[in-house]
Amino acid sequence: MEKWAVITGASSGIGEEFARQLAAQGYDLCLTGRRADRLEAVAAEARSQHGVRAEVVAADLGTDAGMRQVETWISSHAPIEMLVNNAGFGIRSLFVDSGPDPVVEMIAVHNIAPVRLIWAALPGMKQAGHGTIINVSSPAAYASLPGNGGYAGTKSFLNAFSESLARELEGTGIRVQVLLPGFTYSDFHKRPAYQDVDLYRSIPKFMWQTSEYVARTSLKALKRGGLYCTPGLLYKLLVLGGRLGFARLARGSILSRFGRDKK
Ligand SMILES: NC(=O)c1ccc[n+]([C@@H]2O[C@H](COP(=O)([O-])OP(=O)(O)OC[C@H]3O[C@@H](n4cnc5c(N)ncnc54)[C@H](OP(=O)(O)O)[C@@H]3O)[C@@H](O)[C@H]2O)c1
Repeated sequence: MEKWAVITGASSGIGEEFARQLAAQGYDLCLTGRRADRLEAVAAEARSQHGVRAEVVAADLGTDAGMRQVETWISSHAPIEMLVNNAGFGIRSLFVDSGPDPVVEMIAVHNIAPVRLIWAALPGMKQAGHGTIINVSSPAAYASLPGNGGYAGTKSFLNAFSESLARELEGTGIRVQVLLPGFTYSDFHKRPAYQDVDLYRSIPKFMWQTSEYVARTSLKALKRGGLYCTPGLLYKLLVLGGRLGFARLARGSILSRFGRDKK
């Protein structure tokens, strides 16, 4: 029987690991991102190692056309079993210098795309009476991040939206999870925005997680239920502090390295 998982941002890091682990569980995969060659490699591995189907939709989720491509794929393969809204990136420039463009792009990738893709997936899931939506957020949702304010803002939106959505979907058989990974080895901090810092050096090793661990913890947590999944005790405590309002007050906290503090 078909069991499709659609994963955005599957070309590296956490999304690539979701692809690998879901293929091992027998899911057929729709992998999206902009780097088609990387997606093809992840798809080829899933086919050859697990015998599942794996399709690639190369699309820029910062654009209306890219979002439409993925929406169309989802609608034409309904019902999909799982949607992992994982695509994302960071910014390291003060809003007062960069202007709105990078933040507007981030709102598209982190918020508008997930909202549209969830909407595309819901009719099929509702009819089937089951389905899973994972929204990859961040503990940074609870922080103030000069130089990356769009990141904190868009991840906050994802949390609040998911909380309401999960309540709307109670009793439908559709599960919602918000995943809050800590600092994770991936391509995230290798992107041009982070070229002038070496976060692997400046952030202590014990604070880093692997993408494999993050994806595995998320998928395991689905069996337990519950809306939020925060891999690792350290980040559970940080998130608790954040939810109580401490992180926004803490200036220059380690989380602020996701951004660029004022000189
Ligand atoms: N790494 C961390 O420390 C950390 C911590 C907390 C939360 N997160 C979150 O985890 C998620 C995955 O990040 P990661 O750490 O795995 O980083 P990553 O290796 O850089 O992966 C990000 C993925 O998002 C895709 N993406 C970015 N912009 C896109 C766009 N405009 N259109 C389509 N796809 C786009 C990338 O694909 P292409 O480049 O091929 O387009 C890539 O597959 C993100 O939402 C991030 O905010 C990461």
